[in-house]
Amino acid sequence: MIQRVLIWDMPTRVFHWLQLASFCTAYLTAFSERLRNYHVALGYILLGLLAFRLLWGFIGTRYARFGSFLFNPGEVVVYLLTMVKGKPQHYLGHNPAGAVSVWLLLSLGIFICVTGIMALQDDASDLVVAMHGVATNAMLGIIFLHILGVLASSIMHRENLVRSMFTGYKSAESGEGIQRSYGWLGVLMVMVVVIFWFVYVRKPLG
Ligand code: HEM
Repeated sequence: MIQRVLIWDMPTRVFHWLQLASFCTAYLTAFSERLRNYHVALGYILLGLLAFRLLWGFIGTRYARFGSFLFNPGEVVVYLLTMVKGKPQHYLGHNPAGAVSVWLLLSLGIFICVTGIMALQDDASDLVVAMHGVATNAMLGIIFLHILGVLASSIMHRENLVRSMFTGYKSAESGEGIQRSYGWLGVLMVMVVVIFWFVYVRKPLG
């Protein structure tokens, strides 16, 4: 029987929206020397969120696990072709095209944070600083495609994917959902981020 079932646990949702907020604010604070401290704090927060997501990809719930959205290139091409024809297969977790954007977003995010930390060192090379900027621009492009893909998928399947990323729920057979949301872990993540923010902004590391 089709009903509302839980697909995205709380830590995955908190990760998603905090990641969006920290990336966007880090981008906006990147161009001002006066706001450098905030920019760096946001970078550390993003790196912490990504480190958590890497761990959660192995120990998290069914649809958050990396194994649930590992597709081979053939599956991605088939999905994209069926999407062009207007009849893509429905997936409850990430679809093959969405999974490509997720892999790219996660790896680019880590690359940006690591090159950012390297760029902070006194002896940082111009190359590192340039790579940090180029990767950020590449990220903006992938984010644009990611949002386009989310909208296209939502329209084709008549399913509000953005709302699901907030509520965690989608319509599916009852046995397809996850059992636990791990709400406490989501609350803990928000608390750690808020505490880090206030401690760091008062007394920056290094
Ligand atoms: C308004 C902007 C955005 C919207 C509406 C949005 C929406 C979504 C939605 C609906 C999903 C789930 C896709 C699915 O059902 O398969 C998702 C996943 C994801 N999004 Fe976004 N997104 C936005 C911005 C971003 C940004 C800025 C980033 C990166 C900095 C990002 C990174 C990700 C990642 C990594 C996932 C996978 C989540 C996971 O499995 O942990 N998104 N997004």
